[in-house]
Amino acid sequence: MNRPIRKAVFPVGGLGTRFLPATKAMPKEMLPVVDKPLIQYAVEEARAAGIEEFIFVTGRGKQAIEDHFDRSYELEDVLRERDKRDLLDAINSWMPKAGQVSYTRQMEPLGLGHAVRCAKPLVGDEPFAVLLADDLILAPRACLAQMVDAYNKVGGNIIAAMDVPREHTKRYGIISPGKDNAQLVEVKGLVEKPKPEEAPSTTAVIGRYILQPSVFRHLDYVQRGAGGEIQLTDAMARMIGEVPFHGLRFKGERYDCGDKVGFLHANIAFALAREDMQKDVAAIVREVHKQL
Ligand code: UTP
Repeated sequence: MNRPIRKAVFPVGGLGTRFLPATKAMPKEMLPVVDKPLIQYAVEEARAAGIEEFIFVTGRGKQAIEDHFDRSYELEDVLRERDKRDLLDAINSWMPKAGQVSYTRQMEPLGLGHAVRCAKPLVGDEPFAVLLADDLILAPRACLAQMVDAYNKVGGNIIAAMDVPREHTKRYGIISPGKDNAQLVEVKGLVEKPKPEEAPSTTAVIGRYILQPSVFRHLDYVQRGAGGEIQLTDAMARMIGEVPFHGLRFKGERYDCGDKVGFLHANIAFALAREDMQKDVAAIVREVHKQL
């Protein structure tokens, strides 16, 4: 019986330099896709996968995230006074319950591996999920829930996987594959951001992970890798052979919202997926297309 996944870590300590100047005073994870901040999509996805504890690894200038997941009494009073019950209910429906959220601070943005390492005292000795809010996924069933389904069958580590064009391998961690049944691929090796000609496959890792707690032990030994950062990929690579390790080709579309073009794409896709906006947005897209 695999131990349940109850806790999720949200590393939100990055500087978001690709989104300057928007991210000078505002966290990248608070950028809205349509009308919801990226971090809220990630929290809702985690909740849909049965997560009960939400651990944020923050940094300087990220207070807006803490405020977002807190009560706002003035706003609630105003909405009540103006009889905007639907908006009030909408806000309260996704608020975490007391004690479900904790924050720790990554004092220097030394990389994703370092951010995850900061969560060790809050995670303790149990398997957990990691979600990167800037990887936004539009899926019929929450991506993390699909991963938990796979974890319940095979245990160990599960990472979200997606096939990418060979010329894009240098943007991702890339899987060296073992047995592959098209949905689950055994992870035999991991390489961070390989050149296209050196990539062991075109199956990329994206920002959703289910990890065994032994990852923390490995993170203690990982040296700065690609880009001078402490890489989660390097710690995960050390776990190959130690625990079952699979990539899940999830059902759904992933948008890289850490990148400007990916972010715009996500806004269009999410707006088109919404009944209340679909018609108007489709008309705009058609109009723009005509002008090209
Ligand atoms: P990115 O590689 O997108 O880095 O991090 P970044 O700093 O956020 O953005 P750019 O590249 O400067 O534009 C992927 C995820 O890892 C988190 C980020 O917040 C993001 O969710 N991260 C990254 C940390 O929490 N700490 C770090 O030191 C680095």
